[in-house]
Amino acid sequence: MKKFIIALSLLLISSFGFAQSYFEDGLSPEWHEARRQALRERMAPNTMAIFFNNSVKNRTNDVDYVYHPDTDFFYMTGFREPNSVLIIFSEERDFGDFKADEIIYVQNRDPRAEMWNGKRLGVEGVKEILGFEHVFINDEFGKTPELKTEDFDKFFSMDLSNGVAGSRSNLALRRMLSQYKDLSGYPEEISPASLQAYELIRSTDIENSANVAQILGRMKQRFPDIEEDELINDYLSATTPEERIKVKESIPETKADVQTLSQVMDVLREVKTEEEIELLAKAVKISAIGQIEVMKAAKEGMSEREIQGIHEFIWKRYGSEEIGYPSIVGAGHNGCILHYVENDMPSIDNRLVLMDLGAEWRGYTADVTRTIPISGKFNEEEKAIYDLVFKSQEAGIALCKAGVEFGEIGRVTRQIINEGLVELGIIKPGERHNYFPHGTSHHLGLDVHDRGGYGALKPGVVLTVEPGIYIPEGSDCDPKWWNIAVRIEDDILVTDSEPVNLSADAPRTTEAIEELMKQPSVLDNWTLPEIN
Ligand code: GLY
Ligand code: MN
Ligand code: MN
Repeated sequence: MKKFIIALSLLLISSFGFAQSYFEDGLSPEWHEARRQALRERMAPNTMAIFFNNSVKNRTNDVDYVYHPDTDFFYMTGFREPNSVLIIFSEERDFGDFKADEIIYVQNRDPRAEMWNGKRLGVEGVKEILGFEHVFINDEFGKTPELKTEDFDKFFSMDLSNGVAGSRSNLALRRMLSQYKDLSGYPEEISPASLQAYELIRSTDIENSANVAQILGRMKQRFPDIEEDELINDYLSATTPEERIKVKESIPETKADVQTLSQVMDVLREVKTEEEIELLAKAVKISAIGQIEVMKAAKEGMSEREIQGIHEFIWKRYGSEEIGYPSIVGAGHNGCILHYVENDMPSIDNRLVLMDLGAEWRGYTADVTRTIPISGKFNEEEKAIYDLVFKSQEAGIALCKAGVEFGEIGRVTRQIINEGLVELGIIKPGERHNYFPHGTSHHLGLDVHDRGGYGALKPGVVLTVEPGIYIPEGSDCDPKWWNIAVRIEDDILVTDSEPVNLSADAPRTTEAIEELMKQPSVLDNWTLPEIN
């Protein structure tokens, strides 16, 4: 009994939360090191860049969400433990006892914490396994080595205005954030949008101030939080160049830069290396097999959750560590909700089911959507809409070639959908509508909406092509179209020659889907006991 009470009290003072320190079969330490070097080469002299890993998110009471590292931090390190921070210097610095061009702070080894939540690498593990040379316990942040504000011209970080809420497991992170803000003179009270506006004012000469006033006016509409910013309002209401110069001179000085690092990471992460493409392709392949198996297993009477479960079960059979983003399984009218994640329709019959899901494989996520008729057969209206989305997607995929402007894919796919909707009599020529309310493409990588630019496509870019048509009940068209929602989404690799569809295994035409849905599934004869 006594043992039980001790165990129970330990349970009460420990929180659930698991972290896998690194992936044995993921990106190599040498790969991460090369990415750090690529960043260093883009940094101005006498500067430092800092990456904080994500905080632990609390679910409720003493239970935390399963930990997921920040993707920029992971990209640079391969390390997945919380309460860790990476610092990169623009050049090697002499700290007396040692010289370093980068430092990483990590959690200490702690047998009790490791008994509950899993093994930590600690200082030695991070040196040996991840290949870092200068590794310190996070208690040492700010002390070893001593970092001084006057020693740097600039401090690059992401926008840190969200702070750290939630779990008590974040104490060390909270402390390091606060110390860093003191060190860099981080403008805590100023919103990121205001900082961006200040940067614009600071870098503009008086002759261009009319242009800047226009841009600031637009920014105020987009970011309501700068509405009350006195400095920006003073600048906008200034009537003479002298008044504008005065406002410009009153912009608070800070060495903390919260924009440049994000822009550089967009550049670094946009083009995927071979090592990354291999991992991404595997995430996508697993997700496509999930779609195939569900097409075989789906039948009327199934629930949205059951369909979600089959996808995710298959991914786990392959060893996928996670979902890449919350799975979307929307039947009938639920398919019209673009990021529907409740997935709680109990019994689906005679409807289309839109399934947008992506497995995560060693940090990289797929993003694949298929839309199927639960009955096994598309009706006339469903097929007409589906074929139109397919035609649009085919044209979009064909455009995924080096040199093509990202925006061109959106323009062409949208034009095909608009023309098709007119032909079907759903809209009138030139009529504005909301049946395709999202963009066609985004980058894919460690994040489902990955970092990257939106200019000309380059070899090594991986992007989605995902046109859709969604016609909610009550729309201004013949009710026979109501509640039809179709999205088809594939993950495309841009190469030196033709586009490569990484998700091509999952059937896309109505004929191929109907054919596959006739095939038996291993789940057909799996019956579970009835319960009330
Ligand atoms: N799964 C989210 C998206 O397609 O963008
Ligand atoms: Mn997508
Ligand atoms: Mn998607």
